[in-house]
Amino acid sequence: MRNETRVVRTVRSLRRTLEAWTREGERIALVPTMGALHTGHMALVRAARRKAERVVVSIFVNPAQFAPNEDFATYPRTFRQDVRKLSVAGVDLVYAPAVEQMYPDGFATRIVPDGAAVAGLEDTVRPHFFGGVATVVGKLLLQVRPDLALFGEKDYQQLKVVTRLARDLDLDTRVVGVPTVREKDGLALSSRNVYLSEGERGRAVALPQALRKAAEAIASGQPVARALSQGRAALARAGFQVDYFEARDAETLAPLKRGQRQQVRLLAAARLGSTRLIDNLAVPQG
Ligand code: PAF
Repeated sequence: MRNETRVVRTVRSLRRTLEAWTREGERIALVPTMGALHTGHMALVRAARRKAERVVVSIFVNPAQFAPNEDFATYPRTFRQDVRKLSVAGVDLVYAPAVEQMYPDGFATRIVPDGAAVAGLEDTVRPHFFGGVATVVGKLLLQVRPDLALFGEKDYQQLKVVTRLARDLDLDTRVVGVPTVREKDGLALSSRNVYLSEGERGRAVALPQALRKAAEAIASGQPVARALSQGRAALARAGFQVDYFEARDAETLAPLKRGQRQQVRLLAAARLGSTRLIDNLAVPQG
């Protein structure tokens, strides 16, 4: 029988539990989260349980990845419900450090990602973001030392940045991407969807629709630039302010090369009122 989900808040108590599992030769999977767990997070947990004997979920709203004008203070925090959901899902350990545990007084070291994965897209609009994500994910991977760590494809650029980070820092963790979970109408699940008013929620579906239409147009041979500008126009018509709507190499996230056969990923971010939504989609291969 499985034990109850334990909650630990310090690296010391985290390590004590992990050491016992490692001694037993059990594989450990980490699902890093900022809490406010929804069905998308629970899909990561289920994938983790299929791949490892032990599952650790971290819950930490990371101040380092929010700019001063962003929603750190108001980011949804639902800790008690989160732990209940994780317990039902059979998670072994919740690691929920305080900000002072992650960034104690005098903390002065940051991981600054570079290269194609980080260039453009989110980084253009949120230049602080990937430094904050890389620093906290680097710390979590070193604290937990999991065999694998699971991230949602919903944050596709983040997945690529973190994959690069684990490789570049020779971490013994395999980074695994898990497909985006969507509402019935196609909207990608996100903790920030709760910010949408009823009217905005109705219009939000234009984002996955525009991505799907552009992906199908490119797959059927339409020039990429035209498909992208039609996608941007469709979003503007639905009342979005578009941050980006772009096509990139699906593996490296480098800009597409003319005339080269490559797997293409469409990535978009757009604002509906004060809510910023991001999404992405693979272009089917012909
Ligand atoms: O995707 C998220 O929820 C966060 O960016 C992560 C990976 C947990 C780092 O804080």
